[in-house]
Amino acid sequence: MLKKIALLAIGGAFATTAFAAADHSDLFKADDLVKYRQSIYQVMSAQANVLGAMAKGEIEFNAEELHERSMNIGNAAKLLGETYKPKTKDVKESNMLAVAWEDSDGMAEKGKAFGENLQALIAASGEPGFDEKQARPAVAKLLKSCKACHDDYRAK
Ligand code: HEC
Repeated sequence: MLKKIALLAIGGAFATTAFAAADHSDLFKADDLVKYRQSIYQVMSAQANVLGAMAKGEIEFNAEELHERSMNIGNAAKLLGETYKPKTKDVKESNMLAVAWEDSDGMAEKGKAFGENLQALIAASGEPGFDEKQARPAVAKLLKSCKACHDDYRAK
C-alpha cells in the first residue's frame, strides 16, 4: 500500500509540482538547481540503461533487479520537481528549451505519461513470473516516454 502511494507521487512530480508557481523555498542557487536536475537525470539514465540492456538481452535478465532499478528511477524522479524553478530559465548550462516554460502543460503531459509508464513497469515487475517477454514492451514504452519529452523540450 505504501508503495502505491509513493508511486502516485512520481507522476505528480512532473505533473503538478514541476511548475509550482509558488517559489517559496529559496534553498538553491539557480546554477546549482540545474546541476542538481542534470544529476538526477544521470541517475535515472544509469538505471534506465540497465533496464534497456536487460530487455534487449544484452545482460542477463533478472526480474528483481529490474524491479529495483525501476523503483530507483521513481525515487530519483520524485526530486525533479523542486529543480524546475523559473529562475533556472537563464542558466546557460541548462539544455531545457525555452518552449518548455511557455508550454508547461505540454511538458507536464509528457511527465504524466512517463509517470504512468513507470508505474506500470514497477507494478508488473513486482508480480511473480514477470519475464523477459513482458519486460520488453514495458521497458520500451518507458524509454519512449523519456525520448518523447526530450524531443520536444530538451536541446539535442
Ligand atoms: C517530462 C520531460 C522529461 C522526461 C519524461 C524525461 N526527461 Fe530527461 N531531460 C528533460 C529535460 C528538460 C532535460 C534538460 C535538463 C537541463 O539541462 O536543464 C533532460 C535531461 C536529461 C539528461 C541529460 C542530463 C545532463 O547531464 O545534462 C539525461 C541523461 C536524461 N534527461 C535522461 C532521461 C531518462 C533516462 C528519462 C526516462 C527514464 C528521462 N530523461 C525522462 C526532460 C525529461
